[in-house]
Amino acid sequence: MAEREQGITIDVAYRYFTTDNRSFIVADTPGHEEYTRNMAVGGASFADLAVILVDATKGVISQTKRHARICSLMGIKHIVLAVNKMDLIGYDQKRFEEIKNDFHQLTYGFHLESIQVIPVSATEGGDNITKKSENTPWYDGKALLPHLEDIDVTDDADQEEFLLPVQRVSRPNHTFRGFQGQIEAGKIKVGGDEIVALPSREKAKVKSILVTDQEAEEAVYGQPVTVQLDREVDVSRGCVLTTSDQIQVADMFTATILWMDDTELVEGRNYLVKVGTKLLPGTVMSIKHKIDINTGKEVPADRIFKNELVACDISLSENMIFDTFENNESLGGLILIDRVTNMTSACGVIKHSLRRSTNVVWQETDITREIRAQQKGQKPLTLWFTGLSGSGKSTLANEVEKRLVSTGHHTMLLDGDNVRHGLNKNLGFKEQDRVENIRRISEVAKLMNDAGGLITLTSFISPYESDRRNAREIIGEEYIEIYVSTPLEECEKRDVKGLYKKARAGEIPNFTGISSPYEAPKNPEVEIDTSKYSLEEATDYVVKEIMKYLD
Ligand code: ADX
Repeated sequence: MAEREQGITIDVAYRYFTTDNRSFIVADTPGHEEYTRNMAVGGASFADLAVILVDATKGVISQTKRHARICSLMGIKHIVLAVNKMDLIGYDQKRFEEIKNDFHQLTYGFHLESIQVIPVSATEGGDNITKKSENTPWYDGKALLPHLEDIDVTDDADQEEFLLPVQRVSRPNHTFRGFQGQIEAGKIKVGGDEIVALPSREKAKVKSILVTDQEAEEAVYGQPVTVQLDREVDVSRGCVLTTSDQIQVADMFTATILWMDDTELVEGRNYLVKVGTKLLPGTVMSIKHKIDINTGKEVPADRIFKNELVACDISLSENMIFDTFENNESLGGLILIDRVTNMTSACGVIKHSLRRSTNVVWQETDITREIRAQQKGQKPLTLWFTGLSGSGKSTLANEVEKRLVSTGHHTMLLDGDNVRHGLNKNLGFKEQDRVENIRRISEVAKLMNDAGGLITLTSFISPYESDRRNAREIIGEEYIEIYVSTPLEECEKRDVKGLYKKARAGEIPNFTGISSPYEAPKNPEVEIDTSKYSLEEATDYVVKEIMKYLD
């Protein structure tokens, strides 16, 4: 069955079956490495228990280790290791014990509540599948199915602090507002403990509770409720009502994530970060280390490839309500969504919030950007020129700036080659350097806009769509993208700096258009191909277009 929700496309075969004691949803996820995504998102993220299969003739292999580690990362507390094909090794107890030991060693330190290792053979008739096998008299545990039917997988969510993520705000009887959602932990009582609304941190007591549509004195974990408080507090969708004092409201945290994207993870990239029901833009600020799938050891790394586990710091565009995964699975689990493809790039868990986020606060100043802009008498804009090297960005930006200045505008031009002599002189042309190059320029352009309504012109190749999108986000509605779409052949023919010739000769690595990609903008505000017009015509056209945003 293919599933699609926000940012997630997975293919998992779900099967449903019921025995006398219990019903099961089985997410059957293949073992091969390329299906790790299915296993993590489609299975491990909501399951209570995982059955991991090993082949008795092969024992614990690297895939077993990967799956066990991901299950543990995703909060699964019960694992069954089914050692299959016991018939092929003559029901050898010694071999079974070896495999069992290997697995116990692997899972040491995983915070599991139960591990059951069962010798099985899934042949016709089967050994230890539905009933104990006579072929393994030395095995003193239950057969697989009875084990699955009997094991207690209930967590102690009803013992925890009360937690209600607010899905909807309503006015059930025209008095106080009612906050609707499903209780994710703990319980509440009318007139009971004091409740804190996050992020506002206002406090109140419970005035009334509706469970579905019925008035109730109490509500518990798992129930859908409408809660009214005894005073007006600032609550809207995405807020949280809780009795816990652990939950964080912050904009930076450290997380362990499973990277699932075909493209590598690069520091500085911007994604959509989903925690609980909330979705916010966020940046992977730094990669701390990766985690060896086999040994669990921390390994230094600055590049992360598909199916690797990595610890990283994530910075959000604004405050988010979250908890550590250890405290709270729903407010501590996250996914990262690629903003261009809308695919899930990673899933993971929050380890802790970063102190910087609570210690560094935004200072409000009296002179605002609006006042500064008013004094200059102009509206700020960032004219973001993007295109291949030699496409004419800098020449055109230079002409456009001259025109603007001659008509009394205040401007500033940031040019790729020039900025790389100063602010960005420590950056090269590898992907992570370009990401950082563009991030810094976006922040500088924003400062220039704030500094007094300056019209800022930037001329950078800025080859990646995700980075331009990030620039648009940082700069805001003042961002105007001007795509200088001169074709590669023409840029190469011009070759003003002789760089294409060198790049073709293999003397410049990662050269845009030759050995490094340029992702053309899909919806630029302005597009101009300089091979079709004279410089004057091109300038006329661009100035005419940007005037629309200046009026
Ligand atoms: S960007 O990709 O990070 O936006 P930027 O615009 O700052 O690039 O710098 C591009 C300029 O650097 C080019 O015009 C060219 O003169 C020079 N350059 C040197 N090496 C490279 C390279 N490998 N790829 C692209 N440009 C390069």
